Amino acid sequence: MEFINAMRKRYSTKKYDATKAIDKKLIEELKEILVLSPSSINSQPWQFQFVTNPEVKKQLAAASLFNEDKINECDTLVVFNSIYDVAVFEKQIKENLPQSALDYYNTTLVQLTPDELRVWFDKQVYLSLGILLAACAQMEIDATPMEGIEADKYQEILKMDGYRSLFAVAIGYRHDEDRNQPSHKPKSRLAQEAIVKSI
Ligand SMILES: Cc1cc2nc3c(=O)[nH]c(=O)nc-3n(C[C@H](O)[C@H](O)[C@H](O)COP(=O)(O)O)c2cc1C
Repeated sequence: MEFINAMRKRYSTKKYDATKAIDKKLIEELKEILVLSPSSINSQPWQFQFVTNPEVKKQLAAASLFNEDKINECDTLVVFNSIYDVAVFEKQIKENLPQSALDYYNTTLVQLTPDELRVWFDKQVYLSLGILLAACAQMEIDATPMEGIEADKYQEILKMDGYRSLFAVAIGYRHDEDRNQPSHKPKSRLAQEAIVKSI
């Protein structure tokens, strides 16, 4: 499918068909696509958890506010975590990045407070959300990005250390009765002239 058509067709799914599973090969491709996401200085301050274990998925669903049913009925929940502990980040970049990137960290990023640095980490993680949603659109996998999660509870359930959950994405296939699909509810966007300027 042409990418423009994939973007026209994608939408945030509100009701999943729990009987439809995503091919395991496509799940493996999505994992690699996330690994290939770009980030500033190739910092990669993230961790992605693909949750299919029914018990864990149920616990996370219960900690996801109005998103509970979507998570219970989707095929897989992808949890996006950002590094919280700056020492974890420093160790990771020392072990993996070239000197030029370390120099940028040591001269520029190091001037940020830990909280400012975490905001910078989070920006990188959001980029990978865009990549996943675009890939799902192209692969005709339905998806729902969800900030509506209780991060503290996710941290406990997933026993995370040094990371915190920012958001999660339900992936699977829509239920025929999903009233949010474009055939029922046309896409709503600001006018292109209002937000895209050609100079
Ligand atoms: C970062 C982010 C967080 C979102 N959180 C939720 C959420 O918790 N639950 C939900 O049903 N939709 C959520 N959405 C979906 C948006 O409401 C949706 O993308 C927007 O209304 C545009 O509609 P569309 O994705 O169907 O084109 C989120 C979207 C983004 C990008």
